[in-house]
Amino acid sequence: MSGKPFYITTAISYVNGVPHLGHAYEAILTDVMARFKRLDGYDVKFLTGTDEHGEKVAKTAEDNGVSPREFADRNAAAFQRMTETLNISNDDFIRTTQERHYKASQALWTRLQENGDIYLGKYEGWYSVREEAYFGEDELREAEDGQKFSPNGTEVKWVEEESYFFKLSAYTDKLLALYEAHPEFIQPESRRNEIISFVKQGLRDLSISRHKDRLQWGIPVPGDDNHVMYVWLDALTNYMTGVGYPDEADAEFQKFWPADYHVIGKDIIRFHCIYWPAFLMAANLPLPKAVFAHGFINVKGEKMSKSVGNVLSPDGLVETYGLDQIRYFLMREIPHGQDGNFSHERAVGRINADLANGIGNLAQRTLSMIYKNCDGKIPEANNYDESDKILLLKMYKYLVSGMRPYAEALMFNQVLMGIWDDISDCDSYIDYNAPWRLKTENPERMKTVLYTVAEVVRCLAIAMQPVTPEGAGRLLDQLKIPATERDFAHICPEYALKPGTAINKPEGVFPRIAEDEEPQVAAG
Ligand code: MSP
Repeated sequence: MSGKPFYITTAISYVNGVPHLGHAYEAILTDVMARFKRLDGYDVKFLTGTDEHGEKVAKTAEDNGVSPREFADRNAAAFQRMTETLNISNDDFIRTTQERHYKASQALWTRLQENGDIYLGKYEGWYSVREEAYFGEDELREAEDGQKFSPNGTEVKWVEEESYFFKLSAYTDKLLALYEAHPEFIQPESRRNEIISFVKQGLRDLSISRHKDRLQWGIPVPGDDNHVMYVWLDALTNYMTGVGYPDEADAEFQKFWPADYHVIGKDIIRFHCIYWPAFLMAANLPLPKAVFAHGFINVKGEKMSKSVGNVLSPDGLVETYGLDQIRYFLMREIPHGQDGNFSHERAVGRINADLANGIGNLAQRTLSMIYKNCDGKIPEANNYDESDKILLLKMYKYLVSGMRPYAEALMFNQVLMGIWDDISDCDSYIDYNAPWRLKTENPERMKTVLYTVAEVVRCLAIAMQPVTPEGAGRLLDQLKIPATERDFAHICPEYALKPGTAINKPEGVFPRIAEDEEPQVAAG
């Protein structure tokens, strides 16, 4: 591929548990963007992976009676499997326990140290193991029994130890200047305001190491065996490891760094929009172009949690609804950057209405009529009337240009609404032209109508590929579209269906799903 480079990443998941619907949503959202960009002619690099060090993983491993390494191996494999189950098109899967990542993290550390941004001191303060994050006293909430909690409701504990610090306080103004000069750096906009007001209060220096007496499961601090790196410094570096850092001359690094988008959840925005650009500024490295924070997915209005027993597993969801179906549901139902809700009723309703009855029915009835009434071959179109011309013009001229601005902002619910408006226009066109009547009244006109609808289905199937790659691919197979003619650039008259092409016997691509089968709950 020789298109413009585009580098996109997901957050890397902690291996203290197995994947759930929240991880699946993030992977799918990022995958849809990666696929969209590839189809739009970009040379895409898509990285995902696992975040394996730190106190949280070490503690969970201990609770399970295994070494952190063994525990990490087991759960990293589960995350890797999830990418396969969900048909995620990542080009690489990074694990922070890999040799290449140790090299990258230690190189970044050394660079920060050489630039005078690291000093040894003593950390005294509150730490949340669940979030692997430090909090100021003023941010905490205290329960009746004296236990203190972070603003996100996780338990914090008092920590006192020798620690290396990063001079984050020196970057307050530089960060504010960054947000000012590049409003697109933090998306969506509401998150940007949240970060700006936090940074405006002034930043404290950041503790970036843990003493070996408290934690050994981490990347050793270069030149000091008594410390391992703070897990977030290690974790954030993954985005550069994935493109060859510390070898800045590496072709991948040259081509793909800085990243175009880091896609993350709203809970980890401080790390990505404050710490990460500050580390990179300190290292004189280019900053990512944008961080997009998506919302959280709740199940039937409740936060997913093991104690409630409502943690949905990607495997169970795919088994119950189908892969493209679950991908479609999540992209269509979760509003841009906001929290979303998963419920069985909504999933069944959406999938049956939009996929089975919408595009599924449109394609099936059109292709079946062609198969039965046109000798199984794409018919010839003659004398287009206004209704045919308008429908085709909408595809060639407005389909991709209409999707693009929404896709650029990761607004895939809007992209899908646009495609489904076209589907319903096409349904109205069929009802208006009634090809089943034309069969006897005007067979030539019937052919033009069927050709027009089949051509619209070709264009819509190309457009649907990022979200429903399998189903869209099967529709294109039925129409005998070569694999090399399925990019957005092929939505044009030059690549229109060729009359006379024999099509495959039409088979339903998006079956209706039963309403009585609820998805399974996650295992671990
Ligand atoms: N390891 C850190 C990220 C380091 S990135 C350099 C982490 N891991 S995580 O496993 O807790 O979360 C991984 C991603 O999944 C995060 O972006 C997080 O926001 C997202 N989600 C976790 N639960 C979620 C939902 N219920 N809904 C949507 N996304 C959620 O944070």
